[in-house]
Amino acid sequence: MKDVAVLIGSGSIGQAIIRRVGADKHVVLADLRQEAADAAAKILENAGFKTSTIVVDISSRESILKLIEHAQKFGKIKNLVNAAGVSPSQAPVAAILKVDLYGTSVLLEEFGKVIAEGGSGVIISSQSGHRLGALTEDENYKLATSPTEELLELPFIKAITDTLKAYQYSKRCNGLRVMYEATAWGKRGATINAISPGIIITPLANDELHGPRKDGYLKMIEASPAKRAGTPDEVGDLAEFLMSSRGRFINGADFLIDGGTTASYWFGDLQYLKKTH
Ligand SMILES: NC(=O)c1ccc[n+]([C@@H]2O[C@H](COP(=O)([O-])OP(=O)(O)OC[C@H]3O[C@@H](n4cnc5c(N)ncnc54)[C@H](O)[C@@H]3O)[C@@H](O)[C@H]2O)c1
Repeated sequence: MKDVAVLIGSGSIGQAIIRRVGADKHVVLADLRQEAADAAAKILENAGFKTSTIVVDISSRESILKLIEHAQKFGKIKNLVNAAGVSPSQAPVAAILKVDLYGTSVLLEEFGKVIAEGGSGVIISSQSGHRLGALTEDENYKLATSPTEELLELPFIKAITDTLKAYQYSKRCNGLRVMYEATAWGKRGATINAISPGIIITPLANDELHGPRKDGYLKMIEASPAKRAGTPDEVGDLAEFLMSSRGRFINGADFLIDGGTTASYWFGDLQYLKKTH
């Protein structure tokens, strides 16, 4: 039996993180698409990692429980990395809320019941969660603490009609749920944090940068403090720190890694985006 590191969403961001924390562990690669998990397994196996793959749909509690059962066959679950999600241009409102808001909340809850002593997890959220204006104290509290099965029934969530808002609320909820669940994870001697990236170059982001909306993206990147997009490895480095022995005092936090884009969106050159984003 080995310690187990579970990666859900086997894309470039998830792979960058798991490469940094998965050595000497059994790495479970889970994804909605078997081919995505297989592709990641091939790369990681060729780099010396021991892996297994499984199809999971994080919008289903039953599917998450099957994933946990699979992972526990190899040993204690020491790490959780959730890099699964759907973006506003990929899916309708209901699917975004079911995967990004509800699914992530169920993951935090169910893995919080089994995470091993000394374990750690990260949830990949997004800068989008930081672009939503302030919510009321009551809305914050409800997003953080409502029973997972009631989240999608909250009136202000049911009222969402556009995909960008669905994504922003979901990602805001990720940070709040991480705070809420940090106490349960902490009682087990484990930590859980969120990372909120800006534009990170992945195959998907690269498509956007060469697609019909490329001019808007390029203008935004050029006007941002960093003047460039980020790389999966930079997110991986932050995650590695949070999940390492040096990160043990960090629990229930949400880290922006966006080259200063959010700062500029609220108070700098990118304020023009407030009209559309
Ligand atoms: N790339 C960026 O610029 C960027 C920026 C901010 C946040 N993010 C977030 O990072 C995460 C990963 O994004 P990425 O760019 O690597 O995208 P990606 O599309 O390469 O990876 C996402 C993976 O999630 C899987 N997935 C989708 N729905 C699922 C479900 N219901 N259950 C299990 N797996 C599912 C997909 O099959 C895919 O392999 C997402 O949550 C995204 O919102 C990405």
